[in-house]
Amino acid sequence: MCRFFCEHFHFFARHSAVMRATVPVMAIAAALTAYYVYIPLPNTVSEPWKLMLLDATFRGVQDMCHLVQQLGLGHHLKALNFVITMFEMLAPQSSDIVEVTDTSFDGVQVRVFEPKKKVDGELKRSIIYIHGGGWALGSARMRSYDHLCRKMAKDMNAVLVSVEYRLVPEVHFPEQINDAYSATKYFLQPEILSQYSVDPSRIAVSGDSAGGNLAAAVTQQLVMDRSINIRLKLQALIYPVLQALDFNTPSYQQNTATPILYKQVMARFWLEYLNGDPSFVQAMLINNHTASNLSQLTSIRDRLNWTNLLPQSFIKNYKPVIQIMGSPQVIKELPALLDPRAAPLIADKEILQLLPRAYILTCEHDVLRDDGIMYAKRLEDAGIEVTLDHYEDGFHGAMIFALPPTNFDVGNKIMNNYINWLDKNL
Ligand SMILES: *[C@@H]1O[C@H](CO)[C@@H](O)[C@H](O)[C@H]1NC(C)=O
Ligand SMILES: *[C@@H]1O[C@H](CO)[C@@H](O)[C@H](O)[C@H]1NC(C)=O
Ligand SMILES: *[C@@H]1O[C@H](CO)[C@@H](O)[C@H](O)[C@H]1NC(C)=O
Repeated sequence: MCRFFCEHFHFFARHSAVMRATVPVMAIAAALTAYYVYIPLPNTVSEPWKLMLLDATFRGVQDMCHLVQQLGLGHHLKALNFVITMFEMLAPQSSDIVEVTDTSFDGVQVRVFEPKKKVDGELKRSIIYIHGGGWALGSARMRSYDHLCRKMAKDMNAVLVSVEYRLVPEVHFPEQINDAYSATKYFLQPEILSQYSVDPSRIAVSGDSAGGNLAAAVTQQLVMDRSINIRLKLQALIYPVLQALDFNTPSYQQNTATPILYKQVMARFWLEYLNGDPSFVQAMLINNHTASNLSQLTSIRDRLNWTNLLPQSFIKNYKPVIQIMGSPQVIKELPALLDPRAAPLIADKEILQLLPRAYILTCEHDVLRDDGIMYAKRLEDAGIEVTLDHYEDGFHGAMIFALPPTNFDVGNKIMNNYINWLDKNL
């Protein structure tokens, strides 16, 4: 995130007239920055000072975007995505090794990365990648995702399909997943796979954060779809979002104010995705929406019961937050909260049993840590082989901050281990 500010700064520095004019602006910016920057961070997190700066930048931009909305100039998420994409978008640029093409699969935009090295008759492995960003931000065309997919295509000699699904506020649940599903289903047709020289028995679906949510949902939907004969070999989920029924898992409690994904920000992303009343956020933060007198939840409570699903080392001393009466109107107005397409964690065991082998990556400093760990446990209980790759020094979103100028060590470590795992197992 710092990248656009830094580049801007260099631009100003080169134009001294502009520089003089911007001195007062910069003084104000510096004061604001000081106000924003300091937050207490656990000392086990990777490069805490760098993370503090990244977080301050991100919060600053988010606050400006909320101001844009308050001024009636547009939706804050649209403004935020505009800022991100303005500085981060890349045209599809082929290299000597990888051919990059923007095209569309069944009406959904995709960016395809194909290794140029072609041996006659040789079939390649393939990964369908779904980017993160709270169902509202980011793009397959962003520098970080372009880099990731390009690297996977090159390192694994694999065909990467990066899905450019539509975002909030243009669309809401279930359109994001419908887009991801349509593109996937289109790609899995035998004639399309053969056009891309892809081995139908060596395909994975993967994604990070909200993209991990969509990847998990697409994987579940594929095993239920009788019109598809191809079985995925793997699913790989990077710090996925998997449920919106308990905002007080130990990781939510522990990381309420941990950068860069604060508990309240995650709850707001959920409400935007489900197109819910923003005022529900306070009820959701205290689990009023899943109070114990709500009978709709009876059958799924054990699928979220972290006192059973998490090891003691993650529970630590945290206690469940269970309300008795709560706010029944939240579930009534947002039945999608109970829909496994939105919350893949709560899918029936009969569905989980049919899923491919899974890789789930989690970070200690992440509200979503326990979403991933609970899903790993439910999959294992359903007889699925799971590799849980946990990072004690990781924070949410670390992988997309692997590139300069942020260069997070833990981001690079995560990216390399993830790609190595896929390379070994796909
Ligand atoms: C979770 O499981 C424990 C142990 O089986 C049980 O005592 C508790 O009541 C369950 N909690 C909920 C909310 O169902
Ligand atoms: C749960 O409590 C709320 C709030 O008092 C009430 O409106 C609702 O009817 C109760 N639901 C059940 C199933 O008892
Ligand atoms: C939570 O539910 C209780 C009981 O219905 C209610 O009194 C309280 O106002 C609710 N709190 C929020 C933040 O919705």
